[in-house]
Formats: sequence, C-alpha cells, structure tokens
Amino acid sequence: MFNHFNKISKEYFTYKNSISYQNIYTEISNQINPIIKNKNILDIGSGGNIFYNYNLANKLYALDISENMLKNLNNSKITKLIQDARDLSNIKKGSVDVVLMIFAIHHINGPDYKSTIRSLQKVLSEANKVINTKGEIIIVELTLNDFFYLLQRLIYKITFKILNIFKTDMVFFYSKKIIEEGINSIGIKTKVTVIDLKMSGWLDPCLGTFPGIIKIPAFMMPTQLRFFYLKKNN
Ligand SMILES: C[S@@+](CC[C@H](N)C(=O)[O-])C[C@H]1O[C@@H](n2cnc3c(N)ncnc32)[C@H](O)[C@@H]1O
Repeated sequence: MFNHFNKISKEYFTYKNSISYQNIYTEISNQINPIIKNKNILDIGSGGNIFYNYNLANKLYALDISENMLKNLNNSKITKLIQDARDLSNIKKGSVDVVLMIFAIHHINGPDYKSTIRSLQKVLSEANKVINTKGEIIIVELTLNDFFYLLQRLIYKITFKILNIFKTDMVFFYSKKIIEEGINSIGIKTKVTVIDLKMSGWLDPCLGTFPGIIKIPAFMMPTQLRFFYLKKNN
C-alpha cells in the first residue's frame, strides 16, 4: 500500500537534523523528560524520531503507520508497532502511563473536514482507552489561529485534491480550540494545560509534505508550537 512517509523518510530525517529543529526538540524534551520517568510510554506517530530521553522511561512503544520511519529504531526498551493510530485495540487497556503525539495529529486525517475531525476524536478516544486511571496524554502540535484555521478549512477539499495529484498525504493543522474540543469530546474530566513553546531559526513549513523545498524564519511561520498536557483523574 502507498505510504507517504515511507517515500519521504530519508529527506524528513535529513532536514529534521538541522540546528533549528534540534533547538525545538530540546524545548519539547525539557517538558517531556520529567513526565516519562519510570513510566510505560506510547509514542503515536513516533516517526522513529525519539529525541527525548527514553532511557528514563520503563518501556516505550513507538507506533507509526510508516514502516520506513521506524526502521532505524533498535533498542531493547523500544517495541515497534506499525499500525494506524485510529485503532489501538491490540494494546491492552490501561497498560500505558503516558501517550505522546508529537507533530502527528495534523497527518491523521481524511478526505474531508468532517472525517478529519472524526479522526482526531478517534485517536484521542483510543489513547484514552489504553492509558490507566491516572494516565497522561501529551500533544505537541503546530496550531493555527482562528482566521487561518477557517481559511484552511474552507480550502480543505481543493488542498486534498492538489496533494493527491502529487501523491502526497493531506496535512491539516488544528487550532488550540479544536484540539481542546477534541479532548473534551472523549469525556476525560480534567483541565488541559497548554504551554506555548518557542520556535527559532529557519524552518521548513512544508516538512511533512515536500521536505527541503522552502525555508523561512521561525517568526514568519503561520503556526504556534503548543504543548497540550492532561492527566486523567477518573
Ligand atoms: C511529522 S511526522 C512526526 C514524527 C515525529 N513524532 C517527530 O516529531 O519528528 C508524523 C508521523 O505520523 C505518522 N502517521 C501518519 N498517519 C498516521 C496514522 N494514521 N497512524 C499512525 N501514525 C501515522 C507518519 O508516518 C509520520 O511518521
């Protein structure tokens, strides 16, 4: 079956290794490392890019739909799972302490806006099923403000068709409000903490679709990097 990330995995890793991305990943690691200590982690859409200190964790499940993205992961602490994040029925309920979704949910979508929102809710509800009663979910995402989000929503079908012509997966960025609504829709009664993270240097706005074509200064990116954190309490 055609898989977009199987096709671009080499370029993706090349560009992700630049200094600007290393700085971003350091910012994210600083948030993640203290949370994962001695815990069982499920990294959804891990992409084989495990930049945080997974040696602190008890166990790490690296889940991705692309086999090539997971190819370089070789560590006894890591179990690779090649599958769609919208169905986690093979993972034992309550067996995970922390679910991570880092730059992943904007790639898990459908042919239209409605199916994309359904995908977001499905991934979150599946994550909710596999975490234990005190489990945590961390989403690190590039988010759009309401205006750009509406614009992106209005051109959803045409964007989908154009990317399809280039045999490239759809990418759809959420707003902070839509991610929070998605979290509320799965029925976890908890406060969601949102931290804005800094982006600096030169970044590639098309990294997940056409890597390497363009680079712009971080302040010109239309997206805000955000860290969403929630802890289950029921
Ligand atoms: C932009 S990459 C992020 C990789 C990594 N987390 C990082 O920070 O660099 C998105 C990843 O999500 C994976 N992905 C896309 N759709 C998926 C799905 N339905 N289920 C699981 N993984 C998926 C892709 O294969 C890709 O490796």
